[in-house]
This record gives sequence, structure tokens and C-alpha cells, in this order.
Amino acid sequence: MTTDQRPIGVFDSGIGGLSVLQALQKELPHERFVYIADNAHAPYGEKSEAFIRQRSHAIAEYLLAQHHIKALVVACNTATAVAIHELRSRHPTLPLVGVEPALKPALALSQTRRIGVIATRGTVGSDKFARLLDSVQDGAQFVVQACNGLALAIEQSTLPDQAAAVQEHIAHLLKTYTQDMGRFGSAPGEIDTLVLGCTHYVFVQNELRTLVGPDVQLVSTGEPVARQTRRLLAAAGFLHAGPVAETQRLHLFTTGDLKGLQAAAKRWLGLPPHLCQAVPASLQA
Ligand code: DGL
Repeated sequence: MTTDQRPIGVFDSGIGGLSVLQALQKELPHERFVYIADNAHAPYGEKSEAFIRQRSHAIAEYLLAQHHIKALVVACNTATAVAIHELRSRHPTLPLVGVEPALKPALALSQTRRIGVIATRGTVGSDKFARLLDSVQDGAQFVVQACNGLALAIEQSTLPDQAAAVQEHIAHLLKTYTQDMGRFGSAPGEIDTLVLGCTHYVFVQNELRTLVGPDVQLVSTGEPVARQTRRLLAAAGFLHAGPVAETQRLHLFTTGDLKGLQAAAKRWLGLPPHLCQAVPASLQA
């Protein structure tokens, strides 16, 4: 434990990473956090790999230069899949944690050995995901579904003027994608475990639960990522031994619509709007 009060940087294409931030704050109550929502460029899952890498580098460099972060959590499966390798080689001494679809934990939970995975097109089309899938086949069947449009709809769902129409669109997308995957349930041949391979999808868990039924396990990654962050901080000697002033605890920034981030932070994390700000113009481009 140290007196190292430098914050931990966390970023996502938008508001999905707030689900990871919530787990991080719970696991590391004596740490400070700076969250970047790259809303102006969401969804990453439907952009080119080159573009996602460029945004990931720009955000990492901004967090290091302006906020002097001591660790970085890439709270986005898509950015992790295509950019974490390069981020690690550019910042070899920075503790860096990514998120990836929790296939291994799902394998341990599944009884029917039929596991569903929902994620963005960018994640499921990446080489990293192909390697992950290869490493866990082990007699189980993975039913992988790219959910185009879903992360974007979840982004839009917090804007009050669009709420009803967007909720209807989300319901339609979830129904279509889950139907395409086949039968869910605990009987042989049914999908009994569903991996949420995009951090945005945690915020539609209740809707998913209604569609797949009570017996299906929904697996997300916030908690294991938070534990891994603690391990890396401890290993680097960067863990802070509290307390942290309330005003220093958390700052959230967006490259896009400030009201959207404020609404999401309030709705899902119960945070007051004054914690959210716009990033400087240099990071918006
Ligand atoms: N939340 C992100 C993920 O986990 C990205 C969604 C997107 O921007 O497409 O993949």
C-alpha cells in the first residue's frame, strides 16, 4: 500500500464501460478514476480496426499526459480485441487491463455445453477472438452472434427525447438476435449460458433475462477485470491506502454529447451531473 494518489484511467467507446467502472469502484474504494466515453466515435464495433487503434492511442496518451494515470483499463471488448497489443508495446511499464468475452468462465458454468456469445461485429471478427475461441472449444459448442446496432441503441437510450422509440428498437434487436441463436434453457441441446461480450450489454440484462428465461446464466466481465486491476496495481506497488477526498474520487469525460453521458451516469450509477465534462477539443477530432 502506498500514498500514490494518481488516478486509474478507464475508457470505452461510450457508456458501456460504466458497467466496468462500477465494479472497479467497488473493488478499489481507495482509488481515483478518470473515465473517458468516446461517444463522438461510438460504436467502435462497426468501425475499421485502424480507426479503433488510432482512438485508443489518442485516449491513452491524453490520459497519461493530462491526468497522469498510473494504470489503464480498456473497458471495451472491441478496443481490447484490436488495440491492446499495440497499447502494451507503446506503454510497456503502464499496468494495462483489457476486457474480453468471458468464454472460460462460461465453460466452467455450462451444464449443457452449449454457450451463447453476443458481442460487436468488431470483437467477433477479430483475430484475438478467433484465438480465444480456439483455445476453449474443448467439446463445448459456442453460438456466436454479432449484434450490429445494439451498442449504438443502448448509447441512444439515455437521451430522454428518444427513450420510448429506442427502447422499442432495443427490444426488437434483442428478440431477433436471441431467436437467431436457437433455444435457451437448461435441457440438453439448449444454450444455458450467455456471455455478454460487450460492456454495453450489461445495461440490457433485464431485457435479456426476460427473453432467455430464468435458467440461463448471464456472464459479464466487470468483477474479474476489477480484481485483475487490483492484482496489477499491487504488483507494481501502486495500490493506494485511502482515504480519497470525495471531490477527487471520479471524473467522467465525453468526446460527444455531455447530456447523454450525464443521463447515463445518473441512470446506471446514480452519479450527479457535475462529475461529467467535455474533453478538450484536441481529443474530440
Ligand atoms: N462497449 C464496447 C465493447 O465492449 C463497444 C461497443 C461499440 O462501441 O461498438 O465492445
